[in-house]
Amino acid sequence: MVFIKATFASVFVSLLACATAVEVPNTDYDVIVVGGGPAGLSALSGVSRVRRTALLIDSEEYRNAPTREMHDVIGNDGTPPAAFRTLAREQISKYPTAEFTNETVESIVPFTQGDFSAFTVTDSKGKSYTARKIVLGTGVRDVLPPTPGLQEGWGKGIFWCPWCDGYEHRDQPFGMIGDITDMLGNVLETHTLYTDIIAFVNGSQTADGEARATAKVADWKEQLAAWNTTIDNRTITSIERLEDGGKDREEDGDEQFDKFRLHFTTGEPVERNALIVNFPTVQTSSLPAKMHLDMVGDKINVTSAMRTSQSGVFAIGDANSDGSTNVPHAMFTGKKAAVYVHVEMSREESKSKISKRTGLSHRELEKEAMRAIGDNLDKEWKRAQE
Ligand SMILES: *[C@@H]1O[C@H](CO)[C@@H](O)[C@H](O)[C@H]1NC(C)=O
Ligand SMILES: *[C@@H]1O[C@H](CO)[C@@H](O)[C@H](O)[C@H]1NC(C)=O
Ligand SMILES: *[C@@H]1O[C@H](CO)[C@@H](O)[C@H](O)[C@H]1NC(C)=O
Ligand SMILES: *[C@@H]1O[C@H](CO)[C@@H](O)[C@H](O)[C@H]1NC(C)=O
Ligand SMILES: *[C@@H]1O[C@H](CO)[C@@H](O)[C@H](O)[C@H]1NC(C)=O
Repeated sequence: MVFIKATFASVFVSLLACATAVEVPNTDYDVIVVGGGPAGLSALSGVSRVRRTALLIDSEEYRNAPTREMHDVIGNDGTPPAAFRTLAREQISKYPTAEFTNETVESIVPFTQGDFSAFTVTDSKGKSYTARKIVLGTGVRDVLPPTPGLQEGWGKGIFWCPWCDGYEHRDQPFGMIGDITDMLGNVLETHTLYTDIIAFVNGSQTADGEARATAKVADWKEQLAAWNTTIDNRTITSIERLEDGGKDREEDGDEQFDKFRLHFTTGEPVERNALIVNFPTVQTSSLPAKMHLDMVGDKINVTSAMRTSQSGVFAIGDANSDGSTNVPHAMFTGKKAAVYVHVEMSREESKSKISKRTGLSHRELEKEAMRAIGDNLDKEWKRAQE
C-alpha cells in the first residue's frame, strides 16, 4: 500500500502544484489609462517609470481646452493647455512601455482569467484591448445654459475658477452670474482681486432665494455690501463680447482686457470686463455609469488611494469625488493612482511567484502531495479492497 500511495502521490504532484498556483492575468497591457488630460498623463508617467506596460486612450476632449492658458501650475504659469499636454506626451514617449492612442472608449468590461482583476476595453471603432488595471481620468463637463455669448466667452474672460483666471483681470469691473446663494462664496474668493463687483442673480432674488442664502450665512447681505457688491436680479438674455483679452493684453505683462455687455429682458445693458459663473458639472464619459461605479453626487466615489467601488479600477482628476477640480489636483491624483496601481500588481505578482513553489524540490512536493491526499487515499484504498 505504501508503494501505491507513493505512486499515486507522484501522479498528483504536478496537479497539486498546478491547483495551488496563483495566476496573474495575461493581458495586452498592465494598465489602460482613459483620458489624456493632466490626470491621465500623470498616471501614465508614473506607471511608465516603473516599466509597467500601459496604453493611454485619449478622446482629445479636454475641459480646459477653451482657456487661453493655465495658471497656478508651478513651472507652467501661463502655458496654453495644448502646449502642456504636447510636452508631457513627448517626455513620456521616451519610456518604451508607454503607448498612446486617440479614441473614445465605449466600454470597459471585467473578465476572469487567472486570480485577479482583468478588463476588456473597447473603443468606439470596435477595437479591443485587455489590461489588468484601469485608471479613469475621464473628467467632467461644464453644463452651461444656452444664453447666447456664454459658450463663446467660456474660458476667455468668463470663468468658474478664480485661481485659474482671476488675476489677469484684477481690479477690472467684475461680474458674478449664478444663484443668489452662491454669491457670498464667490465674493469671499475674489474680493482680493476686485473692488467693483455686481452679482447677476438672474431672477433668483425671490423670498425663497433670500431665505436659502440666509440659511447658509445669516448676514450674507451685509457681507456682500461690505465688499461693494450690488445685486442685479434681472433675467439675462445674452452676453455680447466687446473686447477680446486674447488680443487686447499687455505687451509684456499679464493683464487681459476682455469686455462683455450683458443684456436683460428689461432695462439698460451692463458692461463688465470679467465674469465668474456658477454652473453644474457632469461626468464627460458615460463609462462610470455603464460600469455601475459608486458615485457621490455626480463624482466617482474614490478612497484616498483613488480606488473606485470596482476592484482594479481607479479614478483620478476632476471625475473623482475628492472635492477638487484643477490641474495640480489632477496631476497629484494621477501620480497617486500610479503608485497604488503598481504596488497592487506587484503584490499579485509576488503572490503568484511564491505560489508556484519553484523553490521546492520534486521530493518535497511529493511529500506535500502525500500529506494532502493521504487520508482520502486511505479511504479509497479500503473501498477498492471491499
Ligand atoms: C493624438 O492626440 C494628440 C493630442 O491632441 C495629438 O497631439 C496627436 O498628434 C494625436 N495623435 C495622432 C496619431 O493622431
Ligand atoms: C437665467 O434664467 C432664465 C430663466 O430662468 C434661464 O432660462 C437662463 O438659462 C438663465 N441664464 C443664466 C445665464 O443662468
Ligand atoms: C463700487 O461699485 C460701484 C458699482 O458697481 C462702482 O461704480 C464703484 O466704482 C465701486 N467702487 C470701487 C472702489 O471700486
Ligand atoms: C427677482 O426676479 C424674480 C424673477 O423675475 C422675481 O420673482 C423677484 O420678485 C425679483 N426680486 C426682486 C427683489 O425684485
Ligand atoms: C463612498 O465610499 C466609501 C467607502 O470607500 C463609503 O464609506 C461611502 O459611503 C461612499 N459614499 C457614497 C455616497 O456612496
